[in-house]
Amino acid sequence: MADRPCIIVTGCSSGIGAYCAGALRNDGWRVFATVRKPADLVPLEKAGIEALLMDYTDGPSITALVQEVERRTGGRIDALFNNGAYGQPGAVEDLPTEALRRQFETNVFGWHELTRQIVPLMRRQGHGRIVQCSSILGILPYRFRGAYTASKYAIEGLSLTLRMELEGSGIHVSLIEPGPIESRFTANALTHIRKNIDLEGSVHAEEYKRQLARLDGTGPVNRHKLGPEAVYVALKHALTAGRPRPHYLVTTPARQGALLKRLLPADLFYKLMRSLS
Ligand SMILES: NC(=O)c1ccc[n+]([C@@H]2O[C@H](COP(=O)([O-])OP(=O)(O)OC[C@H]3O[C@@H](n4cnc5c(N)ncnc54)[C@H](OP(=O)(O)O)[C@@H]3O)[C@@H](O)[C@H]2O)c1
Repeated sequence: MADRPCIIVTGCSSGIGAYCAGALRNDGWRVFATVRKPADLVPLEKAGIEALLMDYTDGPSITALVQEVERRTGGRIDALFNNGAYGQPGAVEDLPTEALRRQFETNVFGWHELTRQIVPLMRRQGHGRIVQCSSILGILPYRFRGAYTASKYAIEGLSLTLRMELEGSGIHVSLIEPGPIESRFTANALTHIRKNIDLEGSVHAEEYKRQLARLDGTGPVNRHKLGPEAVYVALKHALTAGRPRPHYLVTTPARQGALLKRLLPADLFYKLMRSLS
């Protein structure tokens, strides 16, 4: 028990986080899985996972998490998987700045805060893996996803810089860039678009009808959607490979999108993205 590697996985109430926490535990890791609501602790604990409360928008909860994990492990944290996040849909011109700020509080500033608190500890132990669950939308833009796209571009920038700054420290930073994955992500995004966007009053009112159908599951089925186990394959490599990669593209649309961005002239590429989104 004592020599199991220790990992913090955030956002484990559903989707990728819940799946990866369980898979890591089965693969011999000591998993500290975070959720925001006390009720979400229960299924994780039943599965033999150490579950803790943490909300990225609540700084003291981040500090309390790190202190509690250090207390339980005697100061050892081998890996961090920043995963908990949400998508705020809506056209950029319809997006209240406050909603954009909140998107960054969770998806960027919270991740930064937790990472900053873990890095000194990893430096002391001389090794560590930091894996960021970014998105293909951290590499290319998508209409009506400006807030989320901007937050993932920010994570890409911070993480790739950190990766270079940690060179030689024994700490490796990787980004996973999934395309569509089965989870509660779109259902949660539906809540955020309804809450923060004036759907009827917008010049994009017609488009929003299509967007809502996509988010509530009544629109066309995405044939390329994979289960969270596809992300786990990449996570496992980033955590265990001798030379973890900077980028892990997951799903066919993600790989195709990244390839086309490299191959096509910029103007043509963004026209293509416009028609796809
Ligand atoms: N699903 C996709 O198609 C897809 C594609 C590319 C990238 N991703 C990325 O994958 C990661 C996981 O998303 P998912 O698809 O598994 O979605 P999900 O099922 O909605 O899970 C998101 C998790 O993040 C948590 N979370 C939300 N706000 C948080 C906050 N302020 N502090 C801490 N945790 C918070 C949620 O907790 P609550 O239940 O309390 O809200 C939930 O546990 C995200 O980083 C997302 O950007 C997803």
